[in-house]
Amino acid sequence: MSKQWTAAVVGGGMGGKLSLNALAASERFALTAACDLRAEVREALSASYPGITVFASHEEMLAQCPTEVVCVSTYPSSHEEVALAALESGVSGILVEKPLGHTFESGRRILAAIAAKQIPVAVPHGLLAKATPLEIIRRVQDNEIGRLVLIEIQCNGWDILNAGIHWLHFCRMLTPGDAPRSVHAAIDASTRTYRDGLQVETAAITSIVHASGLRVVLHTGDEIPVNVPSKSFVFRLIGERGVIEFWGWENGYLLKGEKATPQELAITGHRRHLENLADQMDGIAPLDDTIARASLSALEICEAAYLSGEYRVQVTLPLAGFLPPDPFTDWQPGQPYSGTNGGRDGRAFG
Ligand SMILES: NC(=O)c1ccc[n+]([C@@H]2O[C@H](COP(=O)([O-])OP(=O)(O)OC[C@H]3O[C@@H](n4cnc5c(N)ncnc54)[C@H](O)[C@@H]3O)[C@@H](O)[C@H]2O)c1
Repeated sequence: MSKQWTAAVVGGGMGGKLSLNALAASERFALTAACDLRAEVREALSASYPGITVFASHEEMLAQCPTEVVCVSTYPSSHEEVALAALESGVSGILVEKPLGHTFESGRRILAAIAAKQIPVAVPHGLLAKATPLEIIRRVQDNEIGRLVLIEIQCNGWDILNAGIHWLHFCRMLTPGDAPRSVHAAIDASTRTYRDGLQVETAAITSIVHASGLRVVLHTGDEIPVNVPSKSFVFRLIGERGVIEFWGWENGYLLKGEKATPQELAITGHRRHLENLADQMDGIAPLDDTIARASLSALEICEAAYLSGEYRVQVTLPLAGFLPPDPFTDWQPGQPYSGTNGGRDGRAFG
């Protein structure tokens, strides 16, 4: 058997448990420690994973029980601090939950620090560890539906950053050579909805235009009517020669109206991502940060969408060049033009 890598998890919530369960189930790892700020979570961790040592902070854990792998499963705003501390402790591999950071810049700094250490990174996007989406990526890239022109995503009960980032990540993995050029979002926040520690939208529509002309149109929000009965998520990949429809986490899809149901992978989810990490640490597979870089690109789109909604502007990428517009605008599309106060004549171009 290949080497067993010692591993620990920071944050024992929903995301952390996905890593804890995966590490406990995999013979490639020896789960040795976990930490959480909350006493009741620490108690539950000790009960669920009896062999491990549980700490109240990542500093204590990294100092007293350093491991070869650390999974960063806290809230996005602390990913950077925890990931940098884990790198400093000398890990051989690291998992950082999506979204990589609470901002694109924070996520960029995390990936840059990991790259500087030349160690593998996993960002556990579930769609990339499932048979259906992987088969769809292959078939689209094999040109089975021709040039992609539109991806429509309907996502009920979720928002751009918590679930939308998985969908946008899938799109980035589907068309890696096609750079997103602009992001335009309209966002209704009237119900003051929060989800997983974030203020999120009541309803939003986000349009992303790529260099090739491909549009990705993402509908998110609390009560999004989905136009396939009994589904919460619908993806339509529209190519010049056909359409693929699938339903998020569900196995199976329609290609040109024909149902296909691939055999699910023997190992899915966080365990698959972690075992890919182990392959890279073992030297069985080359270092590959494609999934992580696509996650950062998806985070850039999420941030651009929220900025677009906030400032009512189309945001061009890369986001580093974004400057908020002058906060004052008296221009109300749909209202009569007074003939004064400047502006530009739309009939004079286009
Ligand atoms: N990849 C996936 O499918 C998936 C699924 C669920 C959550 N997540 C991600 O996991 C991350 C955590 O989300 P969650 O749903 O588990 O949240 P959660 O609220 O369920 O749990 C977070 C836990 O982290 C602990 N924590 C926070 N800061 C900490 C710190 N500095 N040190 C130690 N513990 C700390 C909290 O006390 C809490 O118990 C997020 O980035 C989220 O997007 C990913």
